[in-house]
Amino acid sequence: MKMLLVFVFSIFFSIVVAIEQIHLSLGTDETEMIVTWTIPEQQTPLPHQQARVHYGSNNSSGQLQSVKAEVEHFDDDEAEYCTYRALLKELKPNTTYYYWIEQEKRKSNLYHFKSLPSGNKWLPRFAIYGDLGYVNEQSLPYLKKDVEQNMYDVIFHVGDFAYDLPSENGWCGHNFMRSIEPVASRVPYMTCPGNHEEYNNFSHYDSRFTMLGDRTMPMHNSSLNDRINNHFHSMDIGPAHIIMFSTEYYYYTEYGWNQIRTQFEWLEKDLIQANKNRAKHPWIIVMGHRSLYCLKMGDDSCDHQTMERPEIRQGIHMHRRYNFPREYGLENLFYKYGVDIQFYGHEHFYARLAPIYNYTVLSGKRSTNPYDHPQGPIHITTGSAGNLELHPPFNHLKSWVSCHFLDYGYTRLLFENEYHIRLQQVSDDQHGEVLDEIDIIKSAPQPQWMPQKKKIVS
Ligand SMILES: [Fe+2]
Repeated sequence: MKMLLVFVFSIFFSIVVAIEQIHLSLGTDETEMIVTWTIPEQQTPLPHQQARVHYGSNNSSGQLQSVKAEVEHFDDDEAEYCTYRALLKELKPNTTYYYWIEQEKRKSNLYHFKSLPSGNKWLPRFAIYGDLGYVNEQSLPYLKKDVEQNMYDVIFHVGDFAYDLPSENGWCGHNFMRSIEPVASRVPYMTCPGNHEEYNNFSHYDSRFTMLGDRTMPMHNSSLNDRINNHFHSMDIGPAHIIMFSTEYYYYTEYGWNQIRTQFEWLEKDLIQANKNRAKHPWIIVMGHRSLYCLKMGDDSCDHQTMERPEIRQGIHMHRRYNFPREYGLENLFYKYGVDIQFYGHEHFYARLAPIYNYTVLSGKRSTNPYDHPQGPIHITTGSAGNLELHPPFNHLKSWVSCHFLDYGYTRLLFENEYHIRLQQVSDDQHGEVLDEIDIIKSAPQPQWMPQKKKIVS
């Protein structure tokens, strides 16, 4: 059946036209997937019924489903284009789907993806990185190879795209999105913004990606475009609860102070709920662009004496009222609610920190290995995917930096079992070799520094 379907699809696609920049993102749960694509310089959006995604699985007896896309017309001083978004529904979990796009009388290539398994007992495999540009896209060949070997369930890009999306009248963005299509059309490509997305209030970034902001309370009657929050959103994937958020609200306050408060309140609410669900999803992992603890010299947001970003670690003086206390700091919030691992980019290298809280390095509970039942959150900087800015100078390494590499590369996060994660750092410079590898282990939903829930013995 599989070969027959592929053959039929291949005949159907004998005419291939340029519907481009196709990428996936996660829907509300494993029964949904979102397909997004962009048509450069399109001035007149097509009516909804003229842009559709057709899809079908190997085991659906050849039956095809079809869904119409929503369109967003984008136009500013730099670029004009249309982005189309379609929500694929009623997917069977853990199933390969073939899909293509039909627009006017044009048809795209044939693509495929695998829907996520259902439940919390399966073991996800992630690739995570930040700071991938169109020029010097060092990690892309290795990511393509990994994806061809079905190594990942989800890919996370923690800010700084293309360098920059609006550059060259948007063509830098178009070329970048074209370049990642072999990866992102096959594996969900989840994002949060970095400082390189700042132009025109992050509007180019917003117009190109489709992150759902309401997975915990889906509003199924709302349009897809109304459900997007590309700045902060969360998702349950197997045994993990993943939160992606914006560190950039703390630095681009000209676009509004209230969004710092809004995001912080959402983060706390989401973390409270994640702890209620912790027996099912024991790992809480956050991802943002700029790290709380920093190593990079010459970065205005990094305090080179204390090696922190005080605005996001401790909190910000709202409205620049420096006689008022700092508010909305993230280190205490993430510690209080037991965030296990934090991933960041921005600094163009890889750094693995020892478990740390308030400048105190914390040992492991069970052994000399600090990652064996860690007693504080683990911070990883993975901003070395490759871009035109090359590697920055870095400060002398503080005691809390366990491992640091300048090699281009990206991070793998591989779940070994419910309470055991393997983290690997891949080096492009060394042809895909794993440069760093640790196992992160715990034996209960709550991390060691939180009150442990007693088991009920009947
Ligand atoms: Fe950055």
